[in-house]
Amino acid sequence: MSAIQKPRGQWSSKIAFIFAAAGSAVGLGNIWRFPYVTGENGGGAFVFLYLLVIVLLGFPVMLLELSMGRASEKNPVGAFRVLRPGSPWVFVGFMGVLTGIAILSYYTVIAGWTIAYLIKSINMDLDPKAFGNFIADIPQQITYFLLFLLASVGVVAGGVKDGIERITRVLMPVLIGLMVLLIIRSVTLEGALSGLEFYLVPDFSKVSARTFIYAIGQGFFSLSLGMGAMITYGSYISKDDNLVSSGAYVCLFDTVIALMAGLIIFPALASAGQAPEAGFTLVFDVLISLFNQMPLGSFVAIIFFFLLSIAALTSTISLVEVATAYLVDERNLPRGSAVLIVAGVTAVLGIPCALSLGGSDFFTHLLPLGNGQYKSFLGIMDFVFGNMALSLGALLLCIFVVYSWKVSSAVKEISSGNPGFQRWAIYWLVALKYVAPLAIAAILIYMVVTGQTLS
Ligand code: TRP
Repeated sequence: MSAIQKPRGQWSSKIAFIFAAAGSAVGLGNIWRFPYVTGENGGGAFVFLYLLVIVLLGFPVMLLELSMGRASEKNPVGAFRVLRPGSPWVFVGFMGVLTGIAILSYYTVIAGWTIAYLIKSINMDLDPKAFGNFIADIPQQITYFLLFLLASVGVVAGGVKDGIERITRVLMPVLIGLMVLLIIRSVTLEGALSGLEFYLVPDFSKVSARTFIYAIGQGFFSLSLGMGAMITYGSYISKDDNLVSSGAYVCLFDTVIALMAGLIIFPALASAGQAPEAGFTLVFDVLISLFNQMPLGSFVAIIFFFLLSIAALTSTISLVEVATAYLVDERNLPRGSAVLIVAGVTAVLGIPCALSLGGSDFFTHLLPLGNGQYKSFLGIMDFVFGNMALSLGALLLCIFVVYSWKVSSAVKEISSGNPGFQRWAIYWLVALKYVAPLAIAAILIYMVVTGQTLS
């Protein structure tokens, strides 16, 4: 299909957009990153802050990105060029494209684990103790990483409609159903209660500046905000659609799935007597032991890892799509070549990530933290791009809309398809002008000043 000669693709319906955007949002960010970041940051109090972030920062920025996308019908770089021609704002668009590729490079490594575990569960080879060896195994890590990357770029090369729409709609409800089953199993395990308590009862003495940093970063990461993914997805929405309700559904959907993931992980963790601060590897460890304690567990595991691979795939698709749309729209490359370039750059960046989980000592222990612990290459990428760059990107987007493009233009765009929005616009303005920028700027400045960025 020659996407460049055709008029710009559009979602076939409002529902198609919601599923595709929810597909982008729902992924490893919900099921892997949310529980492990919650575990590292004190449990219930973090969850409370996270929910505040979704309502006060996430949803307003979601609307912002969707309106920029639909108004410009462009990728993030093109959007700034159309909305403010000749201005230096286009730099923010470039930053978004680069951030997307950086996130893609390590996200795909973790996504590779889901395929590996799908295969392992088909082979009835689910051993929670083998996980450490698996992630340190260089050939396996690289193979699954490349496999997943290939799958993601393959789908995007097929074009927006053909590629993305089909997969997302059917499997999401099945994923939710399966997660409900896992929750039931998890909360009925012996000793599960203390895990629920850790997860749901806030202990505000555990809140520090770090808790805020991670809550904000996780909010943007999980909703796919701060680097233009939702600008790009918004560019395919029809002018008659209601951006407010579409955006709200995506936020709601994403948040419910993250909260459900926590309900699976923490009770099971407590029941196994493990500490919630285990970090990175926590989720896969816990899930595997959970499957081992379930009737028909290996069968459930097969379906679960299959769905998780698809959820991760619909997220990587959106990351590939941003850079691809940039190369197609702004550089006039054919879609196929654009996708190849994205794949090449991602592969180069992703290999050190794949080696940094024990495979290579150098990349695993790249940055000493001073307390005997180290940050790996992947850990640094996740912090710098998955957390800082997204927060900075969202901050700059707010400043752009308030001071350059003007909120009135954005409100006009949103009102097409939702005339009633005028009445709510003032709250949105407050969020974009004060709440989000002040919260994000305070955090970023604090991090730079105290230098406590990476611990
Ligand atoms: N939101 C996805 C997840 O939770 C990851 C993701 C996809 C993403 N596209 C993004 C994160 C764009 C930040 C920006 O798994």
